[in-house]
Amino acid sequence: MLKNKNILICVTGSIAAYKSCEVVRLLRKEDVNVQVMMTPSAQKFVGKASFAALTNNEVITDIFPDSPKAGLEHIEMALELDAIVIVPATANILCKAASGVADDIISTNLSVCEQPTLFVPAMNFRMWQNPATMDAVEKLRERGRIVMDPEMGKLASLHEGEGRLPAIDTIMNSIRSLFKHELPLLGKKVLVSAGPTREAIDPVRYISNRSSGKMGYALAEVARDLGAKVTIVSGPVSLPPIPEVEMVMVENAIEMLSALENSLDEQDADYLIMAAAVADFQPANPSGEKLKRSNIVASLELVSAPDILKTINSQTEASIIAFALETQNGTAEAKRKMADKGADFIVLNYANEAGAGFESNTNRVQIFSKSGAEKELKKDRKDRIAKRIFDFILLDKNR
Ligand code: CTP
Repeated sequence: MLKNKNILICVTGSIAAYKSCEVVRLLRKEDVNVQVMMTPSAQKFVGKASFAALTNNEVITDIFPDSPKAGLEHIEMALELDAIVIVPATANILCKAASGVADDIISTNLSVCEQPTLFVPAMNFRMWQNPATMDAVEKLRERGRIVMDPEMGKLASLHEGEGRLPAIDTIMNSIRSLFKHELPLLGKKVLVSAGPTREAIDPVRYISNRSSGKMGYALAEVARDLGAKVTIVSGPVSLPPIPEVEMVMVENAIEMLSALENSLDEQDADYLIMAAAVADFQPANPSGEKLKRSNIVASLELVSAPDILKTINSQTEASIIAFALETQNGTAEAKRKMADKGADFIVLNYANEAGAGFESNTNRVQIFSKSGAEKELKKDRKDRIAKRIFDFILLDKNR
């Protein structure tokens, strides 16, 4: 399982630092490529020559090395690593990582890297129980970092308490579990609609909205990573296609409706995610020729576009996730729409909030389920919001 993985071992300044040599040795025995980083205080406990010999690699200790790449190593690492293990992890590094402090080689890396990260704490029991450390651990866990609990026992200071580095085999098992990817959507089909629609007035003009498609694309990507077979029916967006996702590009609401119907006909979906911002109205008689400015207003008659979700909700057994974009009375409107559109879940976002809604790379949403559960997801990048939307849905379905 660990063979040929690239693992970064970060050693911080605890008396348990010498035990991380054993972790590195065992990883090397399993053919792991190990890169070690040490803080200056870690080097007071163990010399970097030990790790260099064990890993056959240079040990990184300096954020501003005197080398041609000066300082850029950590950016490269962010791209190539499979996992990061901080062993031993001091109270200092836990608190810095939780607060995003980046003032040494290890904390800087932790603030750049998004790979699975395991903290293996070892410290005096009072430090572990310090409320600041406890808060930091909670924050890191909330953000998906794995923080092991230290073991009870006699500490280096000869005090009894919780603070000992966990046993080496427990650490190795936790490292292995970083690579056990759960695929809760394996064998499931997820159908996503995304982006805006464009309703033609004539060959050059159209009615549309500000949707960028980013939220729908992020959901499609997360569904793929969770093991699903994903189809995305997308209005015009300027996002690149998503690898391993079937992309069906459409222009207007009628095309989007029929593309979704075709996909459901071919194979019913397990999840239908209506993230598209479908136009609510369309020109009654789009012109084949470019209209003259003088007669556009007089000739522009609008009719309702099909309500796609209301049309297809009876054609599928899928769990339906709708979206509601509101500027006021969000909760009440979202719950009303969930019932009105026959959805099982609805994700509410606000159009009039900085860093949320349509064009933004971030979002803040609330999610409601038919079963009455609800959760607010604080402002975050859309890909992370997408992951947490799936976490909520899967949890609610398993309840
Ligand atoms: N929707 C749809 N077809 C439409 C309009 C919306 O399927 N013609 C879907 C959206 O994809 C979304 C949900 O319905 O999942 C709610 O969309 P929203 O635009 O918030 O609701 P509307 O029904 O358009 O209501 P209003 O614009 O009046 O708020």
